[in-house]
Amino acid sequence: HAEPLATGHGKVILLGEHAVVYGSHAIAAPVPLAIEARVKEAHEGVSLIIPRWGVEQRLESQAEQRRSFDRPIGMILEKLGLAERPMLIEVFPQIPRAMGLGSSAALAVAVIRALDEHFKLGLSDDELNDLAYECEKVAHGTPSGIDNTIATFGRFLLYRMGEPPVKRQLSVPAPIPLVIGMSGVESLTAKMVARVRAAWEKSPGLYEGIFEQIDSLTLQGVKAIESYDLEQLGELMNICQGLLNALQVSSWEVEELIQVARNNGALGAKLTGGGGGGSMIALCPESPERVVNAMQEAGYQAMEVTIG
Ligand code: MEV
Repeated sequence: HAEPLATGHGKVILLGEHAVVYGSHAIAAPVPLAIEARVKEAHEGVSLIIPRWGVEQRLESQAEQRRSFDRPIGMILEKLGLAERPMLIEVFPQIPRAMGLGSSAALAVAVIRALDEHFKLGLSDDELNDLAYECEKVAHGTPSGIDNTIATFGRFLLYRMGEPPVKRQLSVPAPIPLVIGMSGVESLTAKMVARVRAAWEKSPGLYEGIFEQIDSLTLQGVKAIESYDLEQLGELMNICQGLLNALQVSSWEVEELIQVARNNGALGAKLTGGGGGGSMIALCPESPERVVNAMQEAGYQAMEVTIG
């Protein structure tokens, strides 16, 4: 009989990406897109298949792993003492790769959960989250830990590095309607985070001023969300996008999607996640279908989600 599927949640960041790497707050929520995985017995070796991404491969020793998605998996197996155990790891992603929706963290969480279930390891969510964070470091360099936290716990959170992961869960009176627009341009978070780091190292004062402004509007975002003041939330998202532009992490396609959203009634629109391509989000309480259609007409993939 088939083992049940283990889940890692995808995410959107509403406010605070990039600045969160420098100790600012960020607000993130799980989206109804996930990555699922299961582990099956095998006779020899470790195989990884991700049919949807066309991945079918034997995991070689860690030194030989080059692809961004199997390097962390090799590390997980080592850390859990499972490197010598033959197995087949099957992964079923509903999240597109490298679109700013947390696919790498969701994949790590799904695989760790599947290993935990198959080998009856008895990992707690905190242990799982810590391990997924180690994977994110392998994949991303200096992550804040926000993606693995949402992938693990699947809650709507105000997050800050170094604080307990679910210290501040946000409560909303009603779901928040968003449209996710995908630029179709794959982007590596690692590259964007490194770019911001290089700029910050060169002019720390200049960039820390931007991080502080992002922190302040993120904290105002908590109030807007909890009082369901969507106009205010939309405005904060728009200003946040201006600051993300100041960090130079937007892209041509993301900017087009943002303009399309705003021209079609969105209260706010900004990139989400690492930027440099990837995805954007638009706050659309009135006419989400209109925004989705306009994005599709402009040649992009888009979908409605609600969070909270
Ligand atoms: C990526 O989803 C969010 C960033 O802030 C990086 C991080 O927090 O690790 C860009």
